[in-house]
Amino acid sequence: MTHVAVLPGDGIGPEVTAEAVRVLDELGIGHSEHAFGGSAILAAGTPLPDETLNACRAADAVLLGAVGLPELEGQAVRPEQGLLRLRKELGVYANLRPSQADGVDLVIVRELVGGLYFGEKGTREDGTWFDTCEYTRPEVERVARRAFELARTRSGRLTSVDKVNVLHTSRLWRDVVSELGTAEYADVALDHALVDSYAMVVVQAPETIDVVLTENTFGDILSDVAAAVTGGLGLAASASLGDAGPGLFEPVHGSAPQIAGRGIANPAGMLRSLALLLRHGLERATEANALERAVDEVLEEVRTPDLGGDASTQEMGRAVLRRLAA
Ligand code: NAD
Ligand code: IPM
Ligand code: MN
Repeated sequence: MTHVAVLPGDGIGPEVTAEAVRVLDELGIGHSEHAFGGSAILAAGTPLPDETLNACRAADAVLLGAVGLPELEGQAVRPEQGLLRLRKELGVYANLRPSQADGVDLVIVRELVGGLYFGEKGTREDGTWFDTCEYTRPEVERVARRAFELARTRSGRLTSVDKVNVLHTSRLWRDVVSELGTAEYADVALDHALVDSYAMVVVQAPETIDVVLTENTFGDILSDVAAAVTGGLGLAASASLGDAGPGLFEPVHGSAPQIAGRGIANPAGMLRSLALLLRHGLERATEANALERAVDEVLEEVRTPDLGGDASTQEMGRAVLRRLAA
């Protein structure tokens, strides 16, 4: 029996997740909910309880709302640590973040379990605090391979984004990507760009972009920018994939504490993440396409306040469900 582990998390996480769970029910897909994030810290002292990790490992796919509580920001034990550990434990190194709008159709492939997020960090005797950006050749190569493969199924163009003019790890990044391109993906048109000016391209000419490969921190920032220029964070979905085991599917947005509890969060990013789960996690492409179409059609008429409308999260979720059932 197919089973999805559902982690609603904090803030608007549970609100948008509830709409996705209705779709799982409609499709007859089994699921169970598990404690995660800030709510798990407050209840059990840890953002990723063992029970939750075991349930994720045993599932066919994991669907996550969002984590983060303002009262825990900057504390020693934080919700976000649970998310980083979950990504690492599941080995989901390739994070696909698609953005679509009129004339724009791009995917950012963000390295997800290395770099500045996972390098050595700490405080020295002299009072210096540090984070370290670290990558190995195999870590770069496996995510680059994913990006090349993806580019092959699209227009055959790949842009690798780095900071090779400054960062030591970017020199490794650029070498590995170039070598792999020459050795195995000569059919893909590869180019390289520096992250600062590339951020401007994402803002000013997103329609020229197809597939982007970049490291963890750059991908975090560029994917919010790409979301912003294609309708906003409420619409953006993501899939995090490894080589084996369950993938992790979550919207790009966070727990949005300013609007949490008001029932006005846009569930589109979450519903599109569920579509990615159906396609990449459960190999149910037909249902994934149908769900994406339903979300697109509903967005023509039913809009939450972030898109200038006055629909509630539930109204939009129900409208998508009706389309899907029809
Ligand atoms: P955020 O994504 O939560 O919110 C940024 C802005 O976008 C806010 O104005 C918010 O109201 C709006 N927004 C986001 N999602 C929306 C939606 N579905 N519908 C309508 N409006 C939406 O980013 P932030 O404010 O920087 O972070 C808040 C918390 O979320 C922090 O604790 C952060 O660590 C966490 N966070 C978690 C994840 C995750 O769990 N995957 C991702 C990003 C941020
Ligand atoms: C994201 C988020 C996370 C990240 C945080 C919450 C750890 O911003 O998924 O984009 O930085 O990866
Ligand atoms: Mn982010």
